[in-house]
Amino acid sequence: MAPYDPQVVAPFFPALSANGDRLYLDSAATTLRLRCAMERMGKFYGESSNVHRGLYRLSEAATEAYENARSLVGKYIGAETSDEVIFVRGTTEAINLVAHSWRRTFPKRGDRIMVTVMEHHSNFLPWQLAADEIGADFDVCGILENGELDMDDFRKKLSPRTRMVAVAHVSNTLGTINPIEEIVRLAHGVGALVLVDGAKQSDAGPIDVAKLGCDFYAFSGHKMFAGTGIGILWGRKNVLEAMEPFQLGGGMVERFSGNNSQWQQLPAKFEAGTPNVGGALGLAAAVEFLMDFPWEDQFNYFLSIREYFERTICEFDGLRILGNPALKVGVFSLVSDRFHAHDIATALATRNVCVRAGTHCAQPLCKKLAVPASLRVSFSIYNSIGDAQRFIEELHWALEFLNLRMAS
Ligand SMILES: Cc1ncc(COP(=O)(O)O)c(C=O)c1O
Repeated sequence: MAPYDPQVVAPFFPALSANGDRLYLDSAATTLRLRCAMERMGKFYGESSNVHRGLYRLSEAATEAYENARSLVGKYIGAETSDEVIFVRGTTEAINLVAHSWRRTFPKRGDRIMVTVMEHHSNFLPWQLAADEIGADFDVCGILENGELDMDDFRKKLSPRTRMVAVAHVSNTLGTINPIEEIVRLAHGVGALVLVDGAKQSDAGPIDVAKLGCDFYAFSGHKMFAGTGIGILWGRKNVLEAMEPFQLGGGMVERFSGNNSQWQQLPAKFEAGTPNVGGALGLAAAVEFLMDFPWEDQFNYFLSIREYFERTICEFDGLRILGNPALKVGVFSLVSDRFHAHDIATALATRNVCVRAGTHCAQPLCKKLAVPASLRVSFSIYNSIGDAQRFIEELHWALEFLNLRMAS
């Protein structure tokens, strides 16, 4: 079989040809959009109406397309039924939904909630607040020096009182791929539920909730080649059914009855208000594109980028990559002992190189690693080894430029 070639997918991303010499290495923040996703959204806004309301053809067609999008996403992620697929604004909303609704339904004072120190704020703060409000203990699993989860610490902190474990599938700062199946096995062993933040997995590999065995999985369309303001919460049907709704309003009421109203069945119970129909259709178009994507070939190709990137970064004086986990995706966070990450990113921006500097909404991790900021370089399916080579050349230029400026 031919090896993976990013040039084959590049024509599907209009942004890549829109500005010839731009080097986009910020896909961990947001991926470039697929043409098919943009066209599907445009078609919806050009030709369609609202869902679940009208009795006329335009609205019925929108409802049909919206529910087909749900079925397709469900199939892509291995959901048992499309009722388990809730359209939300993104990963952040999905996690807040669970943290809010679950805590109104299940846990009690003295229970425990566990997250990890490598979580994005979206999968840290809602649980910290939930623990506070319930009177639960809040455990934070640590990491090893190489940026992998410290599974001994995980086992130590896991207790029969742990009711929820919330963990990233992939760290948005270190790129570490976490051992979700093992985490689920251990957590289920003590009766805890597991929520997986899949935001950084969605452009880097397949999602299979049945194989992972988790109870909730969240991801965002804009990190999966589709639009902003759309995402997915998948949840195990019996757990979602037992949970209270998140928001109240139109579309989720079965029967109004004073203070004792009845809610709609799944998924409508969790989709109050007018949904982002265009976004859902765009996400479905991206999913169609990814259905038979050669993830394994792409991952093998990424391994050659990783080998080149890590070897060449080592040759720079005073520059290091945070973490070196055995299994990781295309995210490298660099720390210079001479220059602030923002200065390097600003210099690179003048050369049309798009990377991210800062704490990447993962301040617990930055605190733990004692780094005020890092320069995050992230690769996706359209990036080539040539992109890595160009980045290294531009980085040489940027550091030389900053050195000269410092000397003058
Ligand atoms: C690992 C991870 N989790 C959660 C989020 C939040 O995603 P969103 O802003 O799309 O809700 C991000 C976004 O950067 C992320 O990388």
